Amino acid sequence: MLTASDNEMLTCTGPGTPMGEFFRRFWQPVALSRELPERDGTPLRVTVMGEKLVAFRDNQGRVGLVDARCPHRGADMYFGRKEDGAIRCVYHGWQFDLHGRAVELPNVPPDSPYHQTMRIKAYPTREFGEIVWAYLGPPGTEPAEVPQLDFGMLPASQRFVTKKLQECNWAQSIEGALDTSHFSFLHMPAPAVQSNANPDAPADEKRLRWIREDPLPQFSILDHDVGFLVGGARRADGQMRYWRTAQFALPAHSTTPSTLPGETHFGYTWVPIDDENCWIYTYAWNPDRPFSDEERARFAGGHGVIGEVDEHFIPVRNRSNEYLLDRRDQKLHSFTGVRGVAEQDAMIQDSLGRIADRTIEHLTAADAAVVRFRRVVLGGAKALLAGQAPEAPHRYRSYRLRSGSWMAEQGVPLEQVMVERFGDPVGHVAEPLEEAPQAG
Ligand code: FES
Ligand SMILES: [Fe+2]
Repeated sequence: MLTASDNEMLTCTGPGTPMGEFFRRFWQPVALSRELPERDGTPLRVTVMGEKLVAFRDNQGRVGLVDARCPHRGADMYFGRKEDGAIRCVYHGWQFDLHGRAVELPNVPPDSPYHQTMRIKAYPTREFGEIVWAYLGPPGTEPAEVPQLDFGMLPASQRFVTKKLQECNWAQSIEGALDTSHFSFLHMPAPAVQSNANPDAPADEKRLRWIREDPLPQFSILDHDVGFLVGGARRADGQMRYWRTAQFALPAHSTTPSTLPGETHFGYTWVPIDDENCWIYTYAWNPDRPFSDEERARFAGGHGVIGEVDEHFIPVRNRSNEYLLDRRDQKLHSFTGVRGVAEQDAMIQDSLGRIADRTIEHLTAADAAVVRFRRVVLGGAKALLAGQAPEAPHRYRSYRLRSGSWMAEQGVPLEQVMVERFGDPVGHVAEPLEEAPQAG
């Protein structure tokens, strides 16, 4: 559990809050690149950590991100016109470039200092991995590169990138990802259809059985230079252990635990919209091969942690419709009666309330990763409050991380499992690819 004040510090990311200032020292996803498809096209409303902004693509293809309020009298810049690479407020015609500099102030007398000094708040942006990233921290402190997440380093043919709305605070949602123990229940078939022990069962069925039969995995956690790795070992057949590992990278990136060699990886990045909603950028990538059209279609319709969403990236099964929970299905087929791993996660994370009250919890050994996550991010926010800026954002190369599943003899430590599975004790991807890595 947390004290009420630590819970508030953990969850609130508006301007001037300790966690908000900590988050602002990292590049943050603010849109999918495809939400701004054309040069000088339609602007996009963006709300990030309580700040209302407008994104636009200029005539050279660069993305601007400016305050939604015009500095003249506060009109909404979303209604503005895109003109020659700048954005113009349609109320009295003030025009700004993507750095926030005034280009034209038609109703300001020519001798006014406004022509030199007037600015609209503007943040630097980058594009990487089909995502527009922005830096909302103090000017001059931005890291040289955005985090070099593994999916973004691969050719576009080997990845699928999307996002989904989550209608609760960011922290309880990422806690759900780091807590890999819940798979023994939340994502299981209904008890009536669970298979019995069968040594000749297909691998997928065996994995499910091991997960179901051991709801208290033995957790190991390894800190690394941008976060930590968590591994949960479950009893498998004989003396073997079935390991599932997941990454946490500051301030809010994670990867999923099920991937066996050759299988597709999944990861996600949380970005607070405000304290009661967040975007989850979700991505699938396969380091070994391109995705087929069929796989892309499957991802687009919702698959694993990728939600089934409408054209505005709102999940089809969501808070407003009780996630289309089907009680008959819950009795006969799935543990929850809700279709989709992403939707099962969303339902249960939302159910903790818009902002989870961590003062009433009773944690167990299975919550080890949740406890470590809170310690790491609260520690970072408190250090910044005391004047010590985080170093992780500048270690952008260290964000190329993988996680997944592996079988090992009982007693083999997590470091060894990771060396066997990924060639690195904490899952850093050390070697560049054969082909030159393609950012963008
Ligand atoms: S409010 Fe924007 S130009 Fe007047
Ligand atoms: Fe889950």
